[in-house]
Amino acid sequence: MDHTLSLLPFLFIIIISSFHVLPVSPTPSHKLKSATTIRKLNRGGPYIGLVTVIATEENAFLRSVDFRPDPTHPFLDLSGRRFRIGKIHGKKVVYVRCGRGMVNGAAATQQMIDVFNVKGIVHFGIAGNMNNSMSIGDVSIPKQITNAGLWDWLNPDKVKGVEDIAYLDVGNYNVPKGDGDNELGSIGYNYEQLYSVTGHINAPQNVFWINTTQEWLHLAADLEKMELSQCVNASLCLPKKPKLVVGLKAATAYIFVDNAAYRNFLYDTFGVSSSDMESSAVAMVILNPLIFT
Ligand SMILES: *[C@@H]1O[C@H](CO)[C@@H](O)[C@H](O)[C@H]1NC(C)=O
Ligand SMILES: *[C@@H]1O[C@H](CO)[C@@H](O)[C@H](O)[C@H]1NC(C)=O
Ligand SMILES: *[C@@H]1O[C@H](CO)[C@@H](O)[C@H](O)[C@H]1NC(C)=O
Repeated sequence: MDHTLSLLPFLFIIIISSFHVLPVSPTPSHKLKSATTIRKLNRGGPYIGLVTVIATEENAFLRSVDFRPDPTHPFLDLSGRRFRIGKIHGKKVVYVRCGRGMVNGAAATQQMIDVFNVKGIVHFGIAGNMNNSMSIGDVSIPKQITNAGLWDWLNPDKVKGVEDIAYLDVGNYNVPKGDGDNELGSIGYNYEQLYSVTGHINAPQNVFWINTTQEWLHLAADLEKMELSQCVNASLCLPKKPKLVVGLKAATAYIFVDNAAYRNFLYDTFGVSSSDMESSAVAMVILNPLIFT
């Protein structure tokens, strides 16, 4: 994996919970062939599930790791996505590229855990950097992820203290400064509703931070010692040696953040070091996998 890490600008890995999933129950006749394959594959499990987002990440991943496809069933196409089955350094993995955005992240992850016998998911890819102490090429394995895109868009005379976590007052960003009023008012950051197998039925819990599993975070801590290479080849190098940091915070939204003021707002308000468009969705699914029994 270390070679991949060095190739991607600010590669972003999220390691989330371990869990057990029962294989999916038999499906209608036209899916029987897949079902047979899946049963066969799952007998050879459990697998570690790997999820990336876009083709650039996939290419870097497949180019850099020694991925050995399963000789009999190297892949399975489900719902328009290719799930690749194989081994990396002798470890059994199922890999999928989910596609951009939270719906794709959630759908592909849900399908992976429904169909395959996986013991956990590693989600990785490129993220935007929100933290001035991090640079291009650094790797963050966050301990907490939030969906920072669940907004209450409020009038300038907003009634505060309803139940939002934080507010972005658009008027604070007027140029010239003026009186700080702006008809766009304020944006309130709301919670996700987490349904859980251990919670009360139809009584979701409000959650803002989704946590990486402690056990996997401990494993990830060992990676901090890993040497990341600075150069792709003799002529393409990062200005300084990249580092791997475990335990920061991350934000996800349907927003590609390429705006300095908003970047600073996210860092100052939530203490997030990175921003991406899928990871909180992947993490939400892992917290509450739909398990068919
Ligand atoms: C994650 O951890 C924080 C603080 O430790 C806690 O407040 C929060 O409820 C946890 N999130 C979930 C979904 O359990
Ligand atoms: C170095 O790698 C980059 C990116 O893959 C490539 O464009 C470039 O041609 C390479 N340079 C050399 C000297 O191999
Ligand atoms: C920003 O990144 C550095 C590591 O490069 C870390 O020590 C620091 O805690 C991060 N800031 C926050 C708010 O997490």
